[in-house]
This record gives sequence, C-alpha cells and structure tokens, in this order.
Amino acid sequence: MPSVKIFYAVKCNDNKTLLETLAILGVGFDCASKKEIRQVMSLGVSPSRIIYAHPCKSEHDLRYASKVSLTLMTFDSPEELLKVKKCYPEAELVLRIRCDALEATYKLGSKYGASTRDTKALLSMAKDLGLDVVGVSFHVGSGCQELEVYSRAIAKAKQVFNEAEDLGMRLTLLDLGGGFPGRISDGMEKFASVINSALDEYFPPQDHKDLKIIGEPGRYVSTSAFTLATSIRAKKTVVEDGQVVKMYYINDGVYCSFSAILAEGEIYSPVVLNNSTEEDTERSMIWGPSCCSLDVLKKTIRLPNLECSDWLYWPDMGAYTLSNVSPFNGFPHPVVHAMASPETWSRLQELSERDNKMGIHCNGGYLEKGMAQTD
Ligand SMILES: Cc1ncc(COP(=O)(O)O)c(C=O)c1O
Repeated sequence: MPSVKIFYAVKCNDNKTLLETLAILGVGFDCASKKEIRQVMSLGVSPSRIIYAHPCKSEHDLRYASKVSLTLMTFDSPEELLKVKKCYPEAELVLRIRCDALEATYKLGSKYGASTRDTKALLSMAKDLGLDVVGVSFHVGSGCQELEVYSRAIAKAKQVFNEAEDLGMRLTLLDLGGGFPGRISDGMEKFASVINSALDEYFPPQDHKDLKIIGEPGRYVSTSAFTLATSIRAKKTVVEDGQVVKMYYINDGVYCSFSAILAEGEIYSPVVLNNSTEEDTERSMIWGPSCCSLDVLKKTIRLPNLECSDWLYWPDMGAYTLSNVSPFNGFPHPVVHAMASPETWSRLQELSERDNKMGIHCNGGYLEKGMAQTD
C-alpha cells in the first residue's frame, strides 16, 4: 500500500527494541495514553510523527498532549469536542467513524466510532466551536476476517469528507486504522488489493493531491517478529478417563504472554525444541505456572515425552502478548533477546547515525543464532 504511511499502534507491543527499530525506520506511532506518548517521544520521535488515537481522553491527558504539542488526535462525540475546546483548542482533530467487519476477533465498534447518522452534526459542532477537524479515521476490528469492510469504511469516510466540504471545511487526512493480519501466512496482499482499489475509487490521487493516508497497524507489524521460548518447570502423570495424561507446567501462561487465550481459546501452537529422535507421542496437557485452573494453554495435545527444562517454542507471539502481562502470582515475565542478521543490524546502525537518532539498545547487541536460556 505505497500511499499509506504506517503509524504503529504501540499498545500491541511496546518492546523498546521494536519501538527503536521502527523509530529508526521513520515509522509514525499511534499512542493511546500518556505513557505511550512519553515512551515514543523518549526515543527522539517528534510529536508530529504521533497520532493520539483515543477518542475518549481524560482532561489530564489532553493537557499533557497540549504541553508536548502533540496536536493530532481522534474524537467521536460532542462531549470530547467540548473537552478539547476546554483543554486543547489548537488540536487537529480526526473524526473516528464506526464501520464494523462482519467477522473480527475483537469488534471495537460498540465502544468507539461515531455513527454516520451523527457525523454531520459533529462536524458542524466542531466548526461552531472553532475547532480544526483535519480528517477521518476508522477501525474495522482487530483480527479482521472480512476484506470488503475496508472498502465500505473508505466509502463512508468519503461521505464524511463530502459533508465537511458542504460545511466549508477541508479534510486532508484519512486514517485506515488497524485490523490487518499478523502472521505472514495470513497474507496481507489480499487486504492491500481491496484497500488500494477502494482508495482509487473514492479518493483518486488526481482529485486528492494533498491527502495524507495513514494506517495504525498493530498485529501486522509485531506478530511475526517475536518467538516465545518456554521451558518446562514441572511435570506429572495422571490418569483421566482411563487414559494416561502427561501434564506439563511451563514458565509462561495466560497471566503473562498467553492472555489472549482467555478471550480467543487455544490459538497458539507450540513446537518442541529438543534433539530427541523419539517419534512416539502421548496425550498431554500444557499448563501455565500459576495456581489458577484457567491458566491452561493446551487441554489436549500430542507431545513426545518431555523432561523438566526441555523447551517448547511458540512462533508469532509478538501481538498483545508482552503488553498484557500481569503481576499475578509473582512468576517472572519473559526477557526479550533481540536477534538480527549482521546486515540488518549494520543497516539499522547506519540509518540511526545518518539521521542522528538514538541507536538500538538491546541486551548484548545482536545474537545471530541460538537462544539465551532464561527462566
Ligand atoms: C485505535 C486503534 N488503532 C489501532 C489498533 C491496532 O489494531 P490491530 O492490532 O488490529 O492492527 C487498535 C487496537 O485495538 C486500536 O484500538
């Protein structure tokens, strides 16, 4: 999607090495809280590369945005307009509209996004208040499984651009939100093809020369960049329904990297990392380390016989994993070890020095191969 600039959704994974890498690559950021804004700005990213993409902010956070001159932000209600008028009247506002995918893992429309019934009144109110509305955004739902929704959402956004024009306002920003797939095998190309066609149809470049188009992908950026390595802390054998079951307790669970299991079920699949040539598998269960019985990662899985301190690894663990860890039960959280090829690493260093940005800090520089062992 060559016309779309990425504003990475920090909530998805705020790992420092990831944010630094994106900052060096010139990516923009979607921040939804004061802490995220601080985190990104501490990397030397200017506020002009950030969108404050939260339609319902506190007055305190709005004043903070004003203090650091972060102007671009979303809204979806009259109440938010009044708050912006009071706390940050110079803000550049993006009207978030609702357009829900028929299928998405997390439907966001019931929480945020103005109905198209209300958009004209909101634009008119902003105008009366002397506020600057610069664009339209939407989020079709995280983990979107319906391609055509992007076309519907872009068409709705175009309607709002027209309504603004009728009111004598000129919008120049279209924000496609997130929802794009994370795993490489899910295929981003089909999403890109629907989006590019809809952009050509509703926002042809010749009629929208000064239009800036951005997206706020979270999963798309971080999912496949992270692999989680877990070790077996304890095991026991039980008999259930007359069948022998091996119970493995690993060092990560639903109160840490696997929290999505509570909402989405058993979405992750482990790979056994050992040198065993043993072909035989046994009925097994994988548990997280806590005392809670909800902390189960696989209720039934076939695994070879594993020993304590054997490793399982889990690919595609970069989205909504590290950012959801809780202190429950006191078990340690994963440590991130950065790995890059020497070519990638030196390219990033070059870019960082060229632009005089902060470098990438990660424990021990790059590790070309192998994994550090950590509990
Ligand atoms: C406003 C906003 N933008 C972007 C994202 C990132 O979405 P995704 O990870 O589905 O790309 C979210 C996720 O909830 C969001 O709320």
